Amino acid sequence: MAYILAPSILAADFTRLGEEMKVTEENGAEYLHFDVMDGMFVPSISFGMPVLASIQGATGQFMDVHLMIEEPIRYIEEFKKAGADLLTVHLEACKDVKATLDAIHEAGMKVGLSICPETPAEEVEPYLEKVDMILVMSVHPGFGGQKFIPDTLEKIQAIRKMAKDQKRKIDIQVDGGIYLTNVKEVLDAGANIIVAGSAVFKGNAAENTREFMEILKSY
Ligand code: DX5
Ligand code: ZN
Repeated sequence: MAYILAPSILAADFTRLGEEMKVTEENGAEYLHFDVMDGMFVPSISFGMPVLASIQGATGQFMDVHLMIEEPIRYIEEFKKAGADLLTVHLEACKDVKATLDAIHEAGMKVGLSICPETPAEEVEPYLEKVDMILVMSVHPGFGGQKFIPDTLEKIQAIRKMAKDQKRKIDIQVDGGIYLTNVKEVLDAGANIIVAGSAVFKGNAAENTREFMEILKSY
């Protein structure tokens, strides 16, 4: 299994976004994580297609797009055009989860499904055969810089077990409140893709990325 760091640009300095991204790429982060928020599914509004489209082509990183928006099925083609390689939708935000996952796959992107902290792990079970990745939110979606919710660890373990039982080699991504001090716990629980915003971009992004990569490489 590949162990990957996905820096969330939400915590980057947008006046220097190009440099910030590059630093993470040069130091080993294979993914770049985009938090798209609509002010409906979550209280905040972040950024959308124009930001992705301008980054497409400027990075060799895999564009990992986390949609925190209502009825994401409406925008799948547009995110594909803007450069998304992986599109993750929230189970809680879709009227028809299966149709949404199928549409992402048909558009030629990898398929991710996310659950909020209050959604039980069992709810993803019917969809495991349709996804490349499950994103377990370890904070309430909407803002960077929140505190990691410890119950997440059991959820990761449960989903890893479900995937094993179904003989599905899916990725498990964890997002929110992850730092160098707690990343090992989520990796030990069975996650293999780590989203980190504040822990990468607040302070020295090159050094922070390198330190995360050192841990990820030891797995
Ligand atoms: C929260 C976002 C996260 C967030 C992570 O809604 O999905 O990706 O940016 O930020 P940190 O790592 O600062 O908790
Ligand atoms: Zn995210």
